[in-house]
Amino acid sequence: MSDKVEIRPREEQDLDACARLLVEVHERDGYPVEGVADPRKWLELDGSGRAWVALAEGAVAGHVSLTRTSSDDAVKLWKAQNSDRQRPVASVGRLFVSPAVRGRGAALALMRRAMEFGREQGWQLVLDVMEKDQAAMRLYERLGWVCIGTIVHRFGEGQEIPGRAYALSC
Ligand SMILES: CC(C)(COP(=O)(O)OP(=O)(O)OC[C@H]1O[C@@H](n2cnc3c(N)ncnc32)[C@H](O)[C@@H]1OP(=O)(O)O)[C@@H](O)C(=O)NCCC(=O)NCCS
Repeated sequence: MSDKVEIRPREEQDLDACARLLVEVHERDGYPVEGVADPRKWLELDGSGRAWVALAEGAVAGHVSLTRTSSDDAVKLWKAQNSDRQRPVASVGRLFVSPAVRGRGAALALMRRAMEFGREQGWQLVLDVMEKDQAAMRLYERLGWVCIGTIVHRFGEGQEIPGRAYALSC
């Protein structure tokens, strides 16, 4: 059996598999922290958004998205720190990989695809990550992302969790 992971744009027919995978990842890793009562809705994209899936042995095994209209803390922080720059900002998010496929470079390949797309569009890429998600943070830093500040993610009924905002240096 090939251990190669393939990346391609997400299609409508992938959504059920992505939603199931997201529920599994939340149960195991607590990502996303606010839970996934409606996983399909959480994966919805607006008109400017893009998403890619990783396929392993032909099945959906990972996901990442890129969105222009984001209220993420990293977008706000980057804009506040770069008020003199007009560059469009886009946010990378919804990154998760099946526990069964981890360590095979799926996240690395998904991130590279999203970063390549963002670069082609001339977008400044940013992202939010929770401090508990150490594997993700290591991956971002290896790919050239730079921490631009700390954030506090608020969710549920008054719950808070510390995080960091990253920007892709270029
Ligand atoms: C973070 C996450 C996406 C990483 O997914 P992944 O596909 O396992 O990541 P990769 O395989 O690309 O890289 C992970 C590790 O495997 C190693 N690796 C990559 N390719 C490999 C290969 N062919 N053989 C062995 N190891 C490999 C990498 O060096 C990396 O090592 P590290 O943990 O020491 O940094 C995954 O752990 C996940 O879904 N976590 C929960 C959700 C989450 O935290 N999302 C991010 C929110 S911001």
